Amino acid sequence: MVSLPVAIDGTCEESVTTWPRQVHLSAGGISLVLLTPRTTLPSVMYWGPELGDLDNVGLDALEAAYHPVLASNGVDAEVPVTLIPEGWTGWTGTPGLAGHRKGTAWSPRFEPSRITRVGGSETLSVVANDPATQLELDIEIELNAAGLLVMRAGVRNLGDDEYTLEHLNIALPVPDDANEILDLAGRWAKERVPQRRPFTVGTHLREGRHGRTGADAATILVAGEAGFGFDSGRVWGAHLAFSGNHRVFAERQFTGEKLLYAGEALMPGEVILATGERYQSPKLYAAHAIGLDEMAGRFHDHLRARPQHPQSVRPVVMNVWEAVYFDHDLERIIDLATLGASVGAERFVLDDGWFGNRTGDSAGLGDWTPREAAWGEGRFGDLVRYVKNLGMQFGLWFEPEMINEDSDLARAHPEWIMQVPGRLPVEARHQQVLDLTHPDAFAYIKSSIVSLVRQHGIDFIKWDHNRDLVDAGSTRTGRAGIHEQTLRVYKLLDAIRAECPGLEIESCSSGGARVDLEILERTDRVWASDCIDAHERQGIQRWTMQLLPPELIGSHVGAERAHTTGRKLDLSFRAATALFGHFGIEWDLSAASSEEIAELARWVDLYKRHRPLIHTGRVIRRDHEDRGFTLLGAIRPDRAEALFAITVVDRPVTWPAGRVQLPGLDPARLYRVRSANPRFDAEENDPRIYPEWWGDGLTVRGDVLNNVGVQVPALNPDHTALLHVTAAS
Ligand code: GLA
Repeated sequence: MVSLPVAIDGTCEESVTTWPRQVHLSAGGISLVLLTPRTTLPSVMYWGPELGDLDNVGLDALEAAYHPVLASNGVDAEVPVTLIPEGWTGWTGTPGLAGHRKGTAWSPRFEPSRITRVGGSETLSVVANDPATQLELDIEIELNAAGLLVMRAGVRNLGDDEYTLEHLNIALPVPDDANEILDLAGRWAKERVPQRRPFTVGTHLREGRHGRTGADAATILVAGEAGFGFDSGRVWGAHLAFSGNHRVFAERQFTGEKLLYAGEALMPGEVILATGERYQSPKLYAAHAIGLDEMAGRFHDHLRARPQHPQSVRPVVMNVWEAVYFDHDLERIIDLATLGASVGAERFVLDDGWFGNRTGDSAGLGDWTPREAAWGEGRFGDLVRYVKNLGMQFGLWFEPEMINEDSDLARAHPEWIMQVPGRLPVEARHQQVLDLTHPDAFAYIKSSIVSLVRQHGIDFIKWDHNRDLVDAGSTRTGRAGIHEQTLRVYKLLDAIRAECPGLEIESCSSGGARVDLEILERTDRVWASDCIDAHERQGIQRWTMQLLPPELIGSHVGAERAHTTGRKLDLSFRAATALFGHFGIEWDLSAASSEEIAELARWVDLYKRHRPLIHTGRVIRRDHEDRGFTLLGAIRPDRAEALFAITVVDRPVTWPAGRVQLPGLDPARLYRVRSANPRFDAEENDPRIYPEWWGDGLTVRGDVLNNVGVQVPALNPDHTALLHVTAAS
């Protein structure tokens, strides 16, 4: 590894000789080697498994092996593929930066002027200038202990007139043999569905124009060796941490280069930089790994290492939304709280419908005072106290960025509604978007939330966001406002957290339409989907785990018949599905039988016993869908304990399913394997369903579990067998 002086200023004569030609960052088992010439922006020469110490000779050799032959019929010089690709070089793919000054300054040519290695960490920052366009560009690249690359770029206007920014994308090259792409798609109540395609010439563009992250967001764009899976194939993936409009794309050139790009998708005229102003891109997180589980593990390690990562046990949630919807009869809610506490719930969440004139979804958003006209004076406080006396935390639903036209707030401040001058946006769920760039609107929302939280000791907010930003213009400037609104939402969350220490916040957006690493810098979990049908949730949670560890994924046990799909599922399957997340209940328990209540309480106990493992363990996923089942596991980092869920998802043409390997255990260690489902019925002894050892458990070495495996019980579809594995020696 080359150690650099802390800062090298290219304008200074004597430091020119020490300007590094290559820079090697290495951390978390990953190396990134950059070519950092004086005349062009940095290029990635290598991004993959750690290379070990490379001295200058080694780096020179790596560089010699890197430079391509010139393309036929191309320009007469090598075209550098830089982190912000530039058109002047002869690069005919998408440029990294696009913008202009009323039609001029449209093709910058940056020369680095300063390169800085932040002392002690694997962070490099580069500043570059272009005197002709009067722009300054900066790029920061950090390779962190989890082996994740965290990058961001900025552009500053040093000219006397305005610079209109069209886009600023960061580009990361991936090797030639990354010839398949995987990303996620989705819609309301069916988020994060994987899709694959070959990495061919052209652009595979995933653009989010919802003004929020989006139920259909790519989440992670992965390129890898054909056929890569959870445990196999070299993969390179990129996630853009942004909750507004964004773009991630995979592009292959006619010359063969393959790049993953990411950046904000700006609306026309949305960012116009005045003299001295700087635009900063969202962060791009990128990971290399062998297989998707190792890649997910890097994201999980990174998130778990943050100081703000939830440290307390993730409490069992009882949310009343699907039990009462807008029918907020106080006595009923009190009964539900009592029932929730009786099965072991630890946090009670009062959802939409508690405020203003909110008797349905067409009125009240913006009027954040409890509906005490209907409940009686002081009854909201009584409810909070009642819940707390039952030993539960109190959580409350807000949708702070939204406003109904039928609300006192909209009647008082029509100018706080985002709009195109002269016309209001088309309504969605009867609501509009509150312009948080308006200082008074910002202050109003902040103080409404903070005062309620403080007055009642509210522990948790479910922060919702239920419509796309359409025609979302600022009423102050008349210009497109999604960029600024998104940054103001972050500011609002930061301000509320600063004023309410200990408050936890959930990111919800019509279910799982706001799942990204920037919102997660200031929230403590996501609501993965409005669909709590366990059959659907298996997939939604499996793929949400590509980015987030289970403790950040809200997963609830719903009613027997799922409200979103009508599918009827056994309680054991609904609960086993919710187990691998931040567990909760969202079911009208007043309609449940006493047997169901007792069984649910057993599942709550099971969650409480296993949450330390599930919430710190390494996630293991395997697909055996051709054999009718999938595997999901959490393995303690020291491999002394694991929990596996074998879920039968289908009825394949051959049966029984055979053996399933339980990967990730210490090959030399002896383990006890036991069924972990809280209750098995009489069928437990049926040899056509369970292997003989099932009742008593099995003692077996790790290498046998890893490589040979155990028989899959012949369960009906939509049933899960849980196996608890503990080190026996
Ligand atoms: C959104 C959320 C739901 C619920 C409703 C309330 O759809 O995703 O969980 O909170 O709003 O209106």
